Amino acid sequence: MAVVSADACDTAPVTTGPAGSSGFPPGSAEPSTAESSAAARPVAASADARRGLAVVTGASSGIGAASARALADAGFDVLLGARRADRLAAVAADIGPAARSRPLDVTDAASVQAFAAGVASCEVVVCNAGGALGLAPVAAADEAEAEEERWRWMWEANVAGVARTVRAFLPALVASGDGRIVVVTSVAGHQVYPGGGGYTAAKHAAAAVVQTLRLELLGQPVRIIEIAPGMVDTEFSLVRFDGDAGRAAAVYTGTVPLTADDVADAVTWAVTRPPHVTIARLDLFPRDQASARDVHRRP
Ligand SMILES: NC(=O)c1ccc[n+]([C@@H]2O[C@H](COP(=O)([O-])OP(=O)(O)OC[C@H]3O[C@@H](n4cnc5c(N)ncnc54)[C@H](OP(=O)(O)O)[C@@H]3O)[C@@H](O)[C@H]2O)c1
Repeated sequence: MAVVSADACDTAPVTTGPAGSSGFPPGSAEPSTAESSAAARPVAASADARRGLAVVTGASSGIGAASARALADAGFDVLLGARRADRLAAVAADIGPAARSRPLDVTDAASVQAFAAGVASCEVVVCNAGGALGLAPVAAADEAEAEEERWRWMWEANVAGVARTVRAFLPALVASGDGRIVVVTSVAGHQVYPGGGGYTAAKHAAAAVVQTLRLELLGQPVRIIEIAPGMVDTEFSLVRFDGDAGRAAAVYTGTVPLTADDVADAVTWAVTRPPHVTIARLDLFPRDQASARDVHRRP
């Protein structure tokens, strides 16, 4: 496998970490402020009891960033990927020496290949990158052209992105002897709601990919885990509504949504079960939510 060149990584200094102490590939970017606030955070495992390498896509914000933090706290070295290099580097720096980052666009096959290059063995891959664009009805004829572009992006990021990531890391997952693939789908992967056609179609497809993988990889040392959250307060709605902060905030008004840390906790728990146990699917709702459509709101 090719070794990634330094200029393929983000702007932080490039080192390979202490020999034999981590699963980081050569050329992974090290956090630029390794002695940052990470020093104050609890470390759950000593350096010689590390759990191996966990890769997290979409780690520059929300569930991905929280999962990278939680996995590092649980004793994994973490390799973070996303498009916004500055945000990614800040998350990695906050985690500290256990974290490396590389730029990643899961809609671009070459980017996924470069992201995975040099990773000979890894224990966990969290396919989290993705999101929703818009809330237009399927038959919104006046928005047809823009809608098709949005649907294409949602399919590329949430479905093809997962498949590309799994393809790129599968040899390394198998090589670890106990690989775990986590796919962050959604309640939208199992239920539908008006205006959600493009997103629910993509997440349903992602859930189908998860089930297919479990059949295809039966007998391999790889566990396939689906995490399907309901409403989580992240940048998800800000992205969905093109940066409209008021519209995004209204999604969570009067209700208590999940936090990114709640989902990260579930991800970490699922990947730290004994090797013979697969958490096949974990549905996670706020108490204030009963379905994709039913949310309790206080006045
Ligand atoms: N929030 C919810 O209510 C909710 C509920 C169920 C499921 N989910 C799912 O949870 C996952 C994480 O979302 P979130 O709620 O944490 O929202 P978020 O804060 O917007 O995070 C999305 C992450 O995905 C990354 N990303 C988007 N497109 C990408 C691409 N093409 N290549 C690489 N990274 C990409 C973003 O980073 P860059 O922009 O820097 O690339 C960001 O780090 C998504 O798959 C989402 O569909 C969210």
